Amino acid sequence: MINMAKPQIGEDEKKAVMEVLDSGIIATGPRTKAFEEAFASMCTTKHAIATTSGTTALHVAMLAHKIGPGDEVITSAFTFIASGNSVLFVGARPVFVDIDPRTFNLDVTKIEAAITPKTKAILPVHLFGLPCDMDAIMAIAKKHNLAVIEDACQSHGAMFKGKKVGSFGTGTFSLYPTKNITSGEGGMITTNDETVDEACRVIRNHGMRKRYYHDELGYNFRMSDLHAAIGLAQIAKLDTFNEKRRENAAYYDKTLKGVVTPYVPDGYTHVYHQYTVRVPGGKRDALRAYLAEHEIGSEVYYPVPIHKQSFYMSEYGYNVSLPETEKAAQEVLSIPVHPAVSAADREKVASTINEFMSKG
Ligand SMILES: Cc1ncc(COP(=O)(O)O)c(C=O)c1O
Repeated sequence: MINMAKPQIGEDEKKAVMEVLDSGIIATGPRTKAFEEAFASMCTTKHAIATTSGTTALHVAMLAHKIGPGDEVITSAFTFIASGNSVLFVGARPVFVDIDPRTFNLDVTKIEAAITPKTKAILPVHLFGLPCDMDAIMAIAKKHNLAVIEDACQSHGAMFKGKKVGSFGTGTFSLYPTKNITSGEGGMITTNDETVDEACRVIRNHGMRKRYYHDELGYNFRMSDLHAAIGLAQIAKLDTFNEKRRENAAYYDKTLKGVVTPYVPDGYTHVYHQYTVRVPGGKRDALRAYLAEHEIGSEVYYPVPIHKQSFYMSEYGYNVSLPETEKAAQEVLSIPVHPAVSAADREKVASTINEFMSKG
């Protein structure tokens, strides 16, 4: 079976975990600090704050920007549920803007029409490893005095015009095992802003500045040193992993026929967390079944956009129409692109797709 994901855990990660176990400091400690420094350096930001997941990174970032009840946050509905839920966690409302059908990311020409006096932030999601148009988003944010919280959970190391995602606004990353690098479970917030950094650290640790004096409501969203040790070993390999993903993607780009391959605008560096094609002619699900018959994994990210999730409709009253988002959900299929996909694997994946699509 050629799987959709395979965490690249080697001797470095195993050794690092054993060292932490032997050290006696297994909760948040020196490895977490070192991982935060390495992450900030990778992301070219002044600060990085480790959390327990991408979801908690988003949650903390919302709180650090003082987003709360009555506020609105503009984002995409064509993403994992956590992007929208993090806005709901703090009592605010996600306002969904349709996607650009070529990139699957926010259609920046539609953002301004969605801004109201309640809008507090824009939450661009760099989906599948491709950055959003950050020139346009930063300009809109500046004009309307909005915060920018980037959901970079799928785009470690991706760049927009040579600048790393997560370094434009406040960045949030996931370190879940399927991601470009992992810490087991984990998340990271990145920022150049001292106030945001301070706020995130306090919220992550029970609202505590001085030991057992609590100034505000906070959480336990701290990363353990066991997780950080894995993350530290992984971050050293991020460039190699991303290069391997790009190599597999380049092969698919030139080989696949009958499907629409990913569009990468000039100046964007894609890190292919997913390699996602559009399957025209209503053949997506049949192609998926055909691939499964040939022991090739594939996945639909995402079959139900957030505004169409049952509880968003029933409990939060969402009833908007996002035609491009809804069309993409019917047509997309992601195929194996991770670093463990070998040349033989990708040849099999591509020839199986081409064979199916040529049948008419
Ligand atoms: C776009 C996006 N946002 C947020 C998250 C949440 O990250 P985590 O699963 O680490 O909580 C994910 C992870 O799946 C994601 O893909």
